Amino acid sequence: MASSSSTIYHATATAPVNIAVIKYWGKTSTKLNTPTNSSLSVTLSQDDLRTITTASCSAAFKSDGLWLNGDTHDVSGARSQACFAELRALRKAKEDNDPSLPPLSTYKLHLISENNFPTAAGLASSAAGFAAFVRAIADLYELNESPTELSRIARQGSGSACRSLFGGFVAWEKGIRDDGNDSVAIQIAPESHWSTIRAAILVISDAKKGVSSTSGMQATVATSTLFPNRASIVVPARMEAMKKAIIERDFETFAELTMADSNSFHAVCLDTVPPIFYMNDASRAAVRAVEEINRCAGKKVAAYTFDAGPNAVIYYDEENQDIVLGPLKKATANTPGWPDKYSHINTTLPEGFNEA
Ligand code: ADP
Ligand code: DP6
Ligand code: CO
Repeated sequence: MASSSSTIYHATATAPVNIAVIKYWGKTSTKLNTPTNSSLSVTLSQDDLRTITTASCSAAFKSDGLWLNGDTHDVSGARSQACFAELRALRKAKEDNDPSLPPLSTYKLHLISENNFPTAAGLASSAAGFAAFVRAIADLYELNESPTELSRIARQGSGSACRSLFGGFVAWEKGIRDDGNDSVAIQIAPESHWSTIRAAILVISDAKKGVSSTSGMQATVATSTLFPNRASIVVPARMEAMKKAIIERDFETFAELTMADSNSFHAVCLDTVPPIFYMNDASRAAVRAVEEINRCAGKKVAAYTFDAGPNAVIYYDEENQDIVLGPLKKATANTPGWPDKYSHINTTLPEGFNEA
């Protein structure tokens, strides 16, 4: 098709949320968005919490823009700009190689994005959001870069986003290079390696958090005396142990490490000056419910983890669905404010589970 000045080129991509079991919290460079420690996550199903983004470009567009859930969203910040610049440079190299290609790298971009879950509420919207952002533009530009190469770009939008370029079990290796170019995500194991693992998402609050992840972690790095020990000693050891637990499909070790790392992350938040409280009374009720479920089972059959917000994610193995979800529902029925909505990944909830 011959292009004219009014031709609009477009591509649509989705990206799922990932929930870290070993948390990223702290940057070595705010400019490169590189982390103080490696991290590891499970990517949730595309059918559940996800972002869908359509990227379009045209010679007729006057400026770059993003519309998120219907509202305009600022893209003038350094992090969105870094993603645009990296993707345009890759497209430009393609156009230089093949002059018959339309000069999309010179056109302004419009992104229309929708999250089907709460934004900025501690359910990793920046992860799904920037992964979909990068993938949609990469598709529009017909780039052939690998998911790891795209993860290097998504990382600059939001750190956790680099892990949402892969399904399954994903590590973000912090890297050692000064330019940050080896700070990328790699897949530890595909979803099929451990397809019976499930996550229940307990949405306690869909309110926007008071302290964004970006500013919260910067405050922690600057003020917490516990933090250096977490970043340089505790997490590196946990990363290795977690990889082994996943390779061996050892749920008990996976659960132990997941809960310990969530608690360590929230401890350094509390140790920040002024202290940051992401978990609330309802979150703590979820912790107690999981502890009780594990005590009754005589082994760890469920693992809680909380990102930078009050909402709980409970990992469990499908074979234990009834002994995990049944008591969870019961334990929370009488807890004010806890939770008002349940979601689920790769699973069918027991009948009546979502009823008041
Ligand atoms: P969360 O816990 O939800 O990841 P963050 O504080 O890390 O919260 O990031 C929230 C920010 O991520 C939003 O204010 C927005 O700037 C960005 N974001 C969320 N969803 C999208 C999206 N679909 N596309 C682009 N950016 C997004
Ligand atoms: C608690 O990736 O949102 O969810 O890089 O500043 O955008 P920025 O931060 P972000 O931080 C995520 C923090 C976390 C843990 C994790 O996902 O590893
Ligand atoms: Co985030």
